[in-house]
Amino acid sequence: MSVDITRLSVEHHRTALGVGETAPRLSWRFEGSARDWYQQAYDIRRVDDDGGEIETVHVDSGESVLVPWPFAPLGSRSRTRVKVQAHGKSVSTGWSSVLEVEGGLLDRSDWQAQVVTCEQQPFDKAKRPFRLLSAFHVPDNAQRARLYVTALGAYEIYVNGKRVGDEVLAPGWTQYNTQLVYRTHDISAHLRPGENWIGAWVGEGWYAGRLGFGGGRRNIWGSRPALLAQLEVDGKVIARTDESWRWKYGSLLESSIYDGEICDTGIEDDWKWDDSWNPVETLDFPDVLPCATQSPPIREIQNIKPVEIITTPSGKIIVDFGQNFGGYAELLGTPPSAGTIELTHFEVLEHGEVNMRPLRTAKCRDVVYNRGSWKGYKPKFTFHGFRWVGSSPEVHRMTSRYVHVNGWNDIKADDIVGIVVSTDMERVGHFSSSHKLLNRLHENVVWSTIANCISLPTDCPQRDERLGWTGDVQVFAPTLSFLFDGTGMLDGWLKDLAYEQSVAKGVVPIVVPSVDDHFNLPSAVWGDVVALLPAVLHRFTGDARILANMYAPMVDWLERGVKRDPATQLWDPRDMQFGDWLAPQVEGSNGITDPHLVADAYLVHVTRVVAHVAGLLGYRDDQQRFEAEAEALLAVFQDTYITARHRTVSDTQAAIALILHFDLIHPDQPEQRQVLVQRLEKLVTKCLWQVATGFAGTPIILHVLAENGLLHHAYRMLQAKDSPSWLSPVLLGATTIWERWDSMLQDGSINPDDMVSFNHYALGSVAQFLHKVVGGIAPLEPGWRKILVKPRPGGTITSASVSHVSPYGKVSCGWAIVRDTLKVEVQIPPNCSAVVDLPESPTAIVGSGQHTFSMAWQADKRFPPTVSRPHFLPPITNTFVP
Ligand code: BGC
Repeated sequence: MSVDITRLSVEHHRTALGVGETAPRLSWRFEGSARDWYQQAYDIRRVDDDGGEIETVHVDSGESVLVPWPFAPLGSRSRTRVKVQAHGKSVSTGWSSVLEVEGGLLDRSDWQAQVVTCEQQPFDKAKRPFRLLSAFHVPDNAQRARLYVTALGAYEIYVNGKRVGDEVLAPGWTQYNTQLVYRTHDISAHLRPGENWIGAWVGEGWYAGRLGFGGGRRNIWGSRPALLAQLEVDGKVIARTDESWRWKYGSLLESSIYDGEICDTGIEDDWKWDDSWNPVETLDFPDVLPCATQSPPIREIQNIKPVEIITTPSGKIIVDFGQNFGGYAELLGTPPSAGTIELTHFEVLEHGEVNMRPLRTAKCRDVVYNRGSWKGYKPKFTFHGFRWVGSSPEVHRMTSRYVHVNGWNDIKADDIVGIVVSTDMERVGHFSSSHKLLNRLHENVVWSTIANCISLPTDCPQRDERLGWTGDVQVFAPTLSFLFDGTGMLDGWLKDLAYEQSVAKGVVPIVVPSVDDHFNLPSAVWGDVVALLPAVLHRFTGDARILANMYAPMVDWLERGVKRDPATQLWDPRDMQFGDWLAPQVEGSNGITDPHLVADAYLVHVTRVVAHVAGLLGYRDDQQRFEAEAEALLAVFQDTYITARHRTVSDTQAAIALILHFDLIHPDQPEQRQVLVQRLEKLVTKCLWQVATGFAGTPIILHVLAENGLLHHAYRMLQAKDSPSWLSPVLLGATTIWERWDSMLQDGSINPDDMVSFNHYALGSVAQFLHKVVGGIAPLEPGWRKILVKPRPGGTITSASVSHVSPYGKVSCGWAIVRDTLKVEVQIPPNCSAVVDLPESPTAIVGSGQHTFSMAWQADKRFPPTVSRPHFLPPITNTFVP
C-alpha cells in the first residue's frame, strides 16, 4: 500500500520558470495503490541548491490542490526551491522531487529594454519579416543567464547561432492591448565568456497580419512588428533591445498566418555585424506591462511521415500525410535542381483533385525560390490546416516564371515531413472501446482539439478565420478539459475576453480577440461563454479564483450585455441569434429550432449559473437576486415557448433537449418532463436516429436521452451510419471533426456552402458522452475531489475504458461484458472518493485505490430500437454500425 507524489506544480503552469505570481499556489498529484487514503497534513520545505533544508512549514489540511504559498512572496527574479510531503492517517508519502520556482520580471522598472523595429513597411501589404542583431559581453564567471522576451508580432531568437527555446509563433496571440505576454528562458548553456551575439527574426504574426474573413483587416494592433528582449546574467542586465541594435531583411520575403510564406534561398541569412545592417527604430514602451505567460508554448509536437505521394488526374504531384492537422510541412531532401517549389496545403481531395475553395481567401501556400545554397526548408511564422500538400493551379503560374522545378516531381516520402503545431497542453484524457469506428471518432476529436488550440481556442485552423469564436469553445470546453489540461491557455484567453467585453460595454464579442467592431455583437450561446467557461474550468480544476476573476464580467454580461425585451426580460426577439447553429436537415445555418428559444433557454440557465457562482463566492445578495431573476425568466420562458399541454413551439430535438437538460420544467407541473421525454423519443425515431442538432443541441442530446430512460436511443443515434450521423464522416475517411456532418457529401463532392471546414472541434462535443456515459467518469465535485463513476454500457459495445489525470491523480474506469457478466475496474486517486453507480446495483461510495466490481449482465432488450412504417413509405435505410 503506497502513496507517492508524482508532480508538484504551481498555479496552472507546466513549468515554474519566470512565473508572474508573487505567491503562486502549489498543487501535488498522487499515485499509488493505497486504499481509502486521505491527506491529513502536509509539509512544504524550502531547500537550498544542495538540497539542504532552509525552512519547513507544516499545515494540518487535507487540501492538495492550489494550496496557498507558505513562504515570503516571490520578487522579480527570486528563486525558491520547494518540495512537499503529504501525511495520511498512518501512511505518508516520501518527499516529492524539488520544484524550482522563479519569479519573472514583475515591475515596470525591471524592464530596461526598448521596443525595436525595422523601417516602416507599407500598411496595406503583408509585412516582410526582418532580422535583428546585437553583440554583448559576458563576464568570466557567469552562472545563471535568463532571457526575457516578447514581440509585437512573432519572433524566433538565437544566441551565438543557437535557437533559444523551441517555441513557435511566440509569443502567440493575445489581445495585445491588455496582455503582452513574455517568456523567460534559461540560456545559461548558450553563453560563453567574452563576446557573444544575439539575433532574432521578427514576423507580423497575428499582431499586424491579416485577420478575419472577406479579406479581413491588417494592422489590428499595430503596423510595426517589433521585439522586446532583455538578457540578464546573475540578475544583471547585460544585453537589451535598444537603439544600438541593427536590423536587416533576409531570405523571407513574406510570412503571414493565412497566406503562408515566401522564401528566397538566394538571399543569405548571415549574422555578421557589418555595414549592411541598419540602425533600428525604437518604439514607445507598450502601455501595458508585459506579463509572464500563463499558457504553455506553441510547439512542434509531432512529426508525421507521408503515407503516399500521388499524381492527380490533372498532373499535380501531391503528398498525403494521412491525417488532417495544423502545422506545416518541412522539406528535408534536396531538390535536384534550382527552381521554384510551391507547397499548397489543403484538407481534402474532391474526386481525386485539389480543391482550394473551402479555404476561401487564405492562400495557405509556402513558396521557396530555390536559387542554390539549399539547406532544407520549413516556414517560420505561419501554419496551415491540412492533410495534403501539393501543387495548386498557381504553382504552374509560378513555375513558368522560375522554370526548374521538374525535380520536384521526384519528391520522395523521405524528402518531406508534416509537423504538427499546437499549444503544448498536457494530454490528460483517454478513451477507447471495442468499437473501432467510435475509437476513430474519438481520435478525430483529439486531432481537432490539437489543431484548434494554436495559441487560443479557435473555430478552425485552415480558412480565413482561425478566430477565437466564443460559441465554439463554449460548447466544446468540457470535452477539451477532459482531454487536455487547457487551463493556462483558456484562463489567459478569458482575460482577453474580459477586456474586449469592457470595451464593448458589457457585450461579449462573438470572437475574442475581437478583430473588428462588427464582432462586438451580443448572441446567446456564444457570449454565454463568459459564465460557462469559468464554470467548466472550476469543475475540472477546483480553482475558484477563476470564478472570482470572471465574476464581474459575468454579471456585466447579464446586466448590460444581454439585449433584452423590456416586457419580458428575455432576449430581444428582434435581434439576431445564432441558435442551434449548423443543425443539419434545414436550409440556412441557424437550425430548425427557433434561435430565440435556444437563446432564452440559455439565458435562464446562465442566470442560474451566475447565482450559483455568487453563492460560492459568498455574495449572498447577488445570489438571491439572480435566483429570483432566473425564476421569473423561467415563468416567461414557459409562457412563451411551452403550451398548456406541454408541447414546445419548436417541435425539435434541440428545443426539448435544452429544456430537459437545463431543467426548465414548470415548477408546478412535474408531469411536463414525461410528456417532453415522450415527444423527444418520437422525434428521434422520426429522424431515424440521424443527427438533427447543431452547436447547442449536440453536446447534450445523448446525455438527455440517457438520463431520461432512453439509453437505447442514445446508442442507436451514436452508432447510426447514414449521413448526417457521427460515424458517417468516419466512414468517409475523416481524420478530424468536420464543421458539418456533411462537409463532404456522400458522392465525394465538397458541400457547396461557403462555410465548409474539415477541422472544427465544436460538434466533437459528442465525445463528452463517450467519456461520461460510455466510459463512465465525471467530476462530481470541483477538481474531481469527488468523482462520479457511472458507466452505462449499451449498443453493441462490449468493452470500454476511459481515464483522466485529475488534479489529484489518475481516475479511470474500464469495463467489459464477458458472456453474462459485466466486470468493472475503477481507479480512484489518493485523497479522493467516488460515488460508484453501476447498472442494476446499489450505489457504493469508495475511496482511493483499485476497485473491481462484477455483476450479472443482461443486454438492453430495447436495442436496437426500431420503427414500424406504413407500407407506402420507403423502408428505413438508416442502419447502424454494429
Ligand atoms: C465559424 C464558427 C462560428 C460561426 C458563427 C463560422 O464562420 O467558423 O465556427 O461559431 O461562424 O457564426
